[in-house]
Amino acid sequence: MPCLITVLSFSLLMMAIVDLGHGSGCSVCVVVLNVRPSLTAGLKMVLVSMLSVCFCRSPQLARRGFSIVLISRTQEKLDDVAKSIESKYGVETKSIAVDFSATDIYPKIEAGLTGLEIGVLVNNVGMSYSYPEFFLNVPNLDSFIDTMVNINITSVCQMTRMVLPGMVERKKGAILNISSASGMYPCPLLTVYSASKAFVDFFSRGLEAEYKSKGILIQSVLPFFVATKLSKIRRATLDKPNPDRYVAAELNTVGLQSQTNGYLPHAVMGWLTTVLCPARLLNSYIMGLHLGMRSRYLKKQKQG
Ligand SMILES: NC(=O)c1ccc[n+]([C@@H]2O[C@H](COP(=O)([O-])OP(=O)(O)OC[C@H]3O[C@@H](n4cnc5c(N)ncnc54)[C@H](OP(=O)(O)O)[C@@H]3O)[C@@H](O)[C@H]2O)c1
Repeated sequence: MPCLITVLSFSLLMMAIVDLGHGSGCSVCVVVLNVRPSLTAGLKMVLVSMLSVCFCRSPQLARRGFSIVLISRTQEKLDDVAKSIESKYGVETKSIAVDFSATDIYPKIEAGLTGLEIGVLVNNVGMSYSYPEFFLNVPNLDSFIDTMVNINITSVCQMTRMVLPGMVERKKGAILNISSASGMYPCPLLTVYSASKAFVDFFSRGLEAEYKSKGILIQSVLPFFVATKLSKIRRATLDKPNPDRYVAAELNTVGLQSQTNGYLPHAVMGWLTTVLCPARLLNSYIMGLHLGMRSRYLKKQKQG
């Protein structure tokens, strides 16, 4: 508990630093998050955000003055988000429509990013199961495996390959990789998702050790439920916040924690499940939970 309180008070301190615009003497992350185009005198700091809900529809980063490159699947949705960010926050945006289930998309992205100095990359794109299922019973298992690996794993490595060299050259930059609490321990009936998120967490932590000394900040973010399309949660609650609330809390951990649940109630849940609960007990609890979800889903499907 004292540890959590320290984190919280640090976060509040950091928020104050960022919001007051006095961060440039602090960590790289604060510099990056706090740099506004007007302060950079021609140096274009760009956030590349491969996503959706969590970091872009929620305007937390635009509010901090970044130009934003949005990369996602549906052009109309990208246009909508870009338009609302531009008009609300007066920042430049650019969008690139690609389907991350494919692997031949990276030259198109690379071409779209040519000439931009990328200050922050948020690897947020991700897919999960339609419902919890035994590995061998997952519908279209063969293509499901490829799609999940391409979207959840390959995208993170390829996007990092593209933006990291520029960051290393400039000796600053931040990469936020959105893993999941499902990557903190095995999740029966969501095995491929859970394992893909464990990959993202391990990749991020290893990379952080490699590039920290070069001025690059890499953060592994492990949320529990957030109320989005992916989680199919419509009504936000304290432990299942809406994306805006989650992102606001998460951004205040950047520079303080290289691995984070990003939001205080989630940090408490993370602590309870990893420190207090024996792994075997947790495993059978998750199995039971997912079996229940599976049978409710299948029953509903049967009823039409
Ligand atoms: N929500 C949660 O409870 C939760 C918890 C832990 C971790 N996470 C992680 O957080 C990240 C964001 O999740 P979210 O809840 O915001 O998901 P979401 O609401 O489903 O949004 C996912 C975004 O990714 C895009 N996308 C999906 N498949 C794509 C593809 N093949 N190619 C290009 N873009 C694609 C979607 O575009 P379209 O709109 O065009 O479909 C959408 O913009 C994911 O990595 C997820 O694993 C979420």
